[in-house]
Amino acid sequence: TPRVFSGVQPTGNLHLGNYLGAIRKFVALQESHDCLYCVVDLHAITAQLVHDDLPGQIRSITAAFLAAGIDPARHIVFNQSRVSGHAELAWIFNCVARIGWMNRMTQFKEKAGKDRENASLGLLAYPSLMAADILLYRATHVPVGDDQKQHLELTRDIAAKFNNDFSQKIAAAGLGEPMATGDETVNGYFPITEPLIEGPATRVMSLKDGAKKMSKSDPSDLSRINLTDDAEAIARKIRKAKTDPDALPSELEGLAGRPEADNLVGIYAALAERPKAEILAEFGGRQFSEFKPALVDLAVETLGPVTSQMRRLMADPGHIDAVLRDGGERAGAIAERTMKDVKQIIGLLDD
Ligand code: TYM
Repeated sequence: TPRVFSGVQPTGNLHLGNYLGAIRKFVALQESHDCLYCVVDLHAITAQLVHDDLPGQIRSITAAFLAAGIDPARHIVFNQSRVSGHAELAWIFNCVARIGWMNRMTQFKEKAGKDRENASLGLLAYPSLMAADILLYRATHVPVGDDQKQHLELTRDIAAKFNNDFSQKIAAAGLGEPMATGDETVNGYFPITEPLIEGPATRVMSLKDGAKKMSKSDPSDLSRINLTDDAEAIARKIRKAKTDPDALPSELEGLAGRPEADNLVGIYAALAERPKAEILAEFGGRQFSEFKPALVDLAVETLGPVTSQMRRLMADPGHIDAVLRDGGERAGAIAERTMKDVKQIIGLLDD
């Protein structure tokens, strides 16, 4: 059966990129898949060890999941550290993955900066923990923004190497199933996960610079719309968003070389759940002075109910903690079965 897994780090404010690129897709997938949505608190300590209020951050991501419409009764919402299998499987994957694979990750290069020797070992091993998150549940589909694509390719590489290296042991244990890999067939235990990266908002850009990704860590708050922003802040940020002086084009080709225009049209399309071409057919030939107020209305109308529900949920931390506890128990039961299989496959005695 298809199973969805995705995670969000409890670091800094959630923004429109996280919402349109990830969380909104999490909500839609609930209709057709079994889903696990995880607040990845162990990932949050890779780049920065000490946080002002990690419990509050974990609760706030959870509140965003629930406010956006994720149903924790039908699906599983939990925080990563509660299920010890994430760290256990990540260790095993540290022994599957090669150092060279990790050194090639662009996110590691960006986050580690010039002083790479001084980055935490956890930051280097980050993608290995991410692969563990997904494969602990043998998830088949992972909805994410475009920036996670390379990490998901690495997850596929780890699954393929594990399946390949242990193919005979997997068969001997009666686990897994035949999988075609290139020109041979191996007994695969882990699925080769499909990334779900689609639609007009897989890479929402900064409102101040169409060449930069909208990000939690951008020093300028005007560069992003936070899920905690009120209507007035949303309006101000969209009004001040960088644009070029031309009118909107009426066809997609007209957006080439106009990153800021492309970004705002993409945001509009994603919020409206309509194709970009349709938005251009409607607004082509009009100035940003007309388009921006329409975008403000749409953003406020779409995000308003989510932000106010988030605030209500945050007023009752006890309820959020109960959701995470229950989700952790259910996730833990699935994780336990996987770890038992994995230990048997590898030959780690455990009874
Ligand atoms: P994180 O916490 O940085 O971001 C959460 C999700 O939001 C997406 N996203 C964006 N989408 C569109 N435009 C943007 N500007 C934008 N910025 C962020 C991200 O792609 C992500 O989907 N490593 C992951 C968390 C993670 C994970 C996992 C994801 C840990 N384990 C397992 C999937 C499966 C991360 O740091 O996401």
